[in-house]
Amino acid sequence: MIILKSTIELNNWFIENLNGLEENLGFVPTMGALHMGHASLIERAARECEIVVVSILVNPTQFNEKADLQSYPRTLENDVIVAEKAGGTILFTPTPEDIYGGTPSAEKVDYGPITSAFEGLSRQGHFDGVVSVVDKLFMAVRPNRAYFGTKDLQQVAVVERMSNERHPKIQIVSCKLIRDENGLALSSRNTRLSDTGIILAQNISQELQSVVDRVKDGLDVNDSVEIAKKKLKNLKGLELEYISGVNYKTFSISTENHGRSHIIIAASVEGIRLIDNIEL
Ligand code: PAJ
Repeated sequence: MIILKSTIELNNWFIENLNGLEENLGFVPTMGALHMGHASLIERAARECEIVVVSILVNPTQFNEKADLQSYPRTLENDVIVAEKAGGTILFTPTPEDIYGGTPSAEKVDYGPITSAFEGLSRQGHFDGVVSVVDKLFMAVRPNRAYFGTKDLQQVAVVERMSNERHPKIQIVSCKLIRDENGLALSSRNTRLSDTGIILAQNISQELQSVVDRVKDGLDVNDSVEIAKKKLKNLKGLELEYISGVNYKTFSISTENHGRSHIIIAASVEGIRLIDNIEL
């Protein structure tokens, strides 16, 4: 795997090596601490593209809590192995200053509920940071296709909107959410949970599945969500932030029962904030 540590190195490599392959360039932006969720994105990009650039940048502007930024896991040695095995061509590891062209800062973005509701409300400024960094990474990498996981469902909606406006030629590919054998959505944050924390966190996906099962049995979406809400609120050690049915394109609240509707959830266990979602 080729490791390029700056935008200049990346540009130089492109000039010397692309030779037409820029027609078929896939991009997987990440913040590192790679796991099988990230690997699934890289594998898909490798199936569909000639060259796959994987970026690792712990983006300071999308963290609303400094402690969260500082404690974010950094596992570069292992990341190289995961990215290479999954079929990545280039690992791009710029510094924030390089990508931002100076001190990192994010402009305000307002795309309505997709930036202001749920994750946008709980993590003020988070999507400003995501939009800024993805926009700048797109300018540096100039991919044809960029791969994002539906683990971060609202992020996919935000990136699609940003990309439609600013990078209409880039195709945003949204990829399946990957879970562990117990249903827990894979996340770099899971490594910070204790064994009991992990067992407690499994309730999140279990309750999402129960919401879907009850709706399939004929229960109203709202009533089904309310049952899950009650159960989760009674779980000691788990702090529920929200659980709601939404339209996954607009992030307006939805009680409809069809493919556009998802149940989304955010909850904390042992002070670790976890998000998950399921299609109705
Ligand atoms: P990060 O959390 O590292 O995630 C990078 C990509 O991997 C995102 O598209 C995310 O949705 C996807 N991903 C993470 N866990 C996944 C899982 N269990 N299944 C499927 N895909 C999964 O998301 C970010 O970084 C950043 O916000 C970023 C887009 C890189 C901008 O800084």
